[in-house]
Amino acid sequence: MSDFHLDDRIYDHVGEDGFTRLCAAFFIRVPKDDVLSAIYPEDDLEGAEHRLREFLIQRFGGPHRYSAERGDPRLRARHAPFAIDPLARDRWVQRMGEAVSESGFDDNVNSTLRAFFDSAATFMINRD
Ligand code: HEM
Repeated sequence: MSDFHLDDRIYDHVGEDGFTRLCAAFFIRVPKDDVLSAIYPEDDLEGAEHRLREFLIQRFGGPHRYSAERGDPRLRARHAPFAIDPLARDRWVQRMGEAVSESGFDDNVNSTLRAFFDSAATFMINRD
């Protein structure tokens, strides 16, 4: 389920802390993952974690700090420099799925986030 109004309530429900936990759980996995560690900039994982967290907070009903800092998200264009093939996409979704499971959210929050990540990650594929 990816209902717009539920999306908007996720921030109220899980707060800054929820998105902080989620992104920390994802980025602790990145350097340990052979596929993702080859794609992410190893000298700026903290910056990458910050940008993802701020984007998700904005996307799910929180303050629009991401766009204040970075402008229009244009995520497909921003991912163009990185070679994202179906294997990398699947690994991203797998690791984020583990992070969702670990973050202690309600079931309907989990399913909304999983549906969003599943389709947004497919949209980011830019290589065969
Ligand atoms: C669910 C889909 C995804 C979302 C919502 C997302 C979100 C983001 C955001 C907000 C940024 C920062 C953009 C900026 O302001 O410059 C970013 C950067 C990045 N993403 Fe994604 N992403 C997704 C999928 C993926 C996938 C599938 C991969 C590769 C496996 C990937 C790899 C990267 C890399 C390497 C960066 C650059 C790190 C940085 O910010 O310095 N992303 N992503």
